[in-house]
Amino acid sequence: MTLHTNAPVRKAVFPVAGLGTRFLPATKASPKEMLPVVDKPLIQYAVEEAYTAGVRHMVFVTGRSKRAIEDHFDTAYELESELEAAGKHALLELVRSLMPDDMHCSFVRQPRSLGLGHAVLCAEPLVGNEPFAVLLADDLMVGPVGGESVLAQMVAAFRQQGRSMLAVQEVPQDQVNRYGIVAGEPAGGALMRIQRIVEKPAVKDAPSRMGVAGRYILTPAIFEQLRTQPKGAGGEIQLTDAIARLMAHEAVYAFQYAGKRYDCGSKEGFLEATVELALQHPQVGEAFREYLKTLEL
Ligand code: UTP
Repeated sequence: MTLHTNAPVRKAVFPVAGLGTRFLPATKASPKEMLPVVDKPLIQYAVEEAYTAGVRHMVFVTGRSKRAIEDHFDTAYELESELEAAGKHALLELVRSLMPDDMHCSFVRQPRSLGLGHAVLCAEPLVGNEPFAVLLADDLMVGPVGGESVLAQMVAAFRQQGRSMLAVQEVPQDQVNRYGIVAGEPAGGALMRIQRIVEKPAVKDAPSRMGVAGRYILTPAIFEQLRTQPKGAGGEIQLTDAIARLMAHEAVYAFQYAGKRYDCGSKEGFLEATVELALQHPQVGEAFREYLKTLEL
């Protein structure tokens, strides 16, 4: 068995090929991951989280109608020269800061929405034989005030452990059927060694209330499982099912992160993120707070 202890996490995979049906009609021709929360698209929050965790190679698994994501992480030549000519230097810096010089972006297509597991497998040629992170941009994660981002916390834990790990949080009992649910035994600090993982169990069958959030660090051994993974729930190749099989070969851990998750794949979660991040926004926060106070709720 190959040990990956201390291997750095240099690459992050962003599966962005889902159909985003819960946000139709907004997602008919443009990707869900480009929906802005206040002034930044969801995908940019996730990319910034990966960058601050030390990742420099971003791998996007895209599908139809996802061109906007490629354009967002590319040079906008006309826009930049217009801003330069107009002397709008702060905005120019803002636009350029999206693509730091040491950040590299690659794009691979998932030809059909065959599931999250299949999307991750599509990234294999770009990831190769090294550990990597997976970030689902529709889970917007905010680290604790003044603390590290969720992925940075996981990268630090991975440095010690060298094994696959999944971000988890306790979820309300009546919502376990919306999550991958894990059960296991404490393994020190924020870690738990997973003994069972099940995708979207019925409320009465859930082995615990620990729900998986959209952040993973995986060893490359996951690809072998994904290649032979039959279709599961919803006729899709499920990442959760492949992780369950990986556990027969390697230990897999759950990581109880510090911070907050907004489920921006749902309208309610997206609105919660919008309100809370708007209240914290340095430019509009104060005025927005005053506005909210005037509402009769
Ligand atoms: P979701 O379960 O949120 O599905 O996928 P979705 O298609 O994006 O949205 P709804 O449920 O229809 O509204 C979780 C993540 O997996 C990616 C999605 O882009 C999202 O980030 N995904 C899902 C893929 O990349 N490919 C797939 O085939 C399925």
